[in-house]
Amino acid sequence: MPRIYIHPLPVRIWHWINALGFVALILTGIQIRYADRLGLVSFRNAVHLHNWIGFVLVANFFIWFLFYVFSDKIRVYHPELSPMKHFRGSLRQLQYYGYGIFRGDPNPHHVSAYHKFNPLQSTTYQIIMLLVVPLQFFTGLMLWDLERFSAAVEFFGGVRVVDTVHVLCFIFFVGFIFIHPYLSSLARPPSAHFKAMLTGYEEVEEEPGQGDAGRIDTPP
Ligand code: HEM
Repeated sequence: MPRIYIHPLPVRIWHWINALGFVALILTGIQIRYADRLGLVSFRNAVHLHNWIGFVLVANFFIWFLFYVFSDKIRVYHPELSPMKHFRGSLRQLQYYGYGIFRGDPNPHHVSAYHKFNPLQSTTYQIIMLLVVPLQFFTGLMLWDLERFSAAVEFFGGVRVVDTVHVLCFIFFVGFIFIHPYLSSLARPPSAHFKAMLTGYEEVEEEPGQGDAGRIDTPP
């Protein structure tokens, strides 16, 4: 099968460090929250681990962010579609996930180098990476040292507000960590997207390049 290069190395490095880190943050976060009921590690070690992994992931975030800011690959998130086309594409994709997929309809989205995401993925990933992840990191940073960040904590409404936002983001990510791999497995074969996130290459049914002027089928 022809294959195209869709996940550059910095994105893959960021992604797998981030995925492992989020699983570890969720586990240590649950241990901190339910210290009296769980005994995975001691409370003290859970707090240390949670803080250190948090800092590693904040630094790691900038691999993803700076890569897209300084490369033309930002186009994968903004593939020259009019807002109306984007909206219609999202509805088509929703209909596929909610109905068409159960009838064996083909996926309306066809992967190419600069259109690697369907409109729903593109919107969701941007909301997560530019809003929810920064909110999780920012509130985590404030909770890490309440004294140092006391002015910011007061500005945002006090420690209860900051903690509530941090926990709400945590609940979101607990759901995301299940839904995201599930949706990623809705490919043929189911391992295709996982393999692509490991190797960079996605196998496509049609010849790469057809109707895709900006294709890349070798690593830049
Ligand atoms: C068990 C954990 C995870 C697995 C197995 C996983 C799997 C995958 C796979 C297979 C892809 C490529 C498929 C696609 O195009 O959608 C992908 C992309 C992506 N994932 Fe995950 N993921 C995990 C955790 C996470 C977490 C925790 C986040 C964010 C907090 C995340 C954010 C993203 C983003 C933003 C992309 C698109 C990356 C880009 O090309 O810019 N993933 N993931």
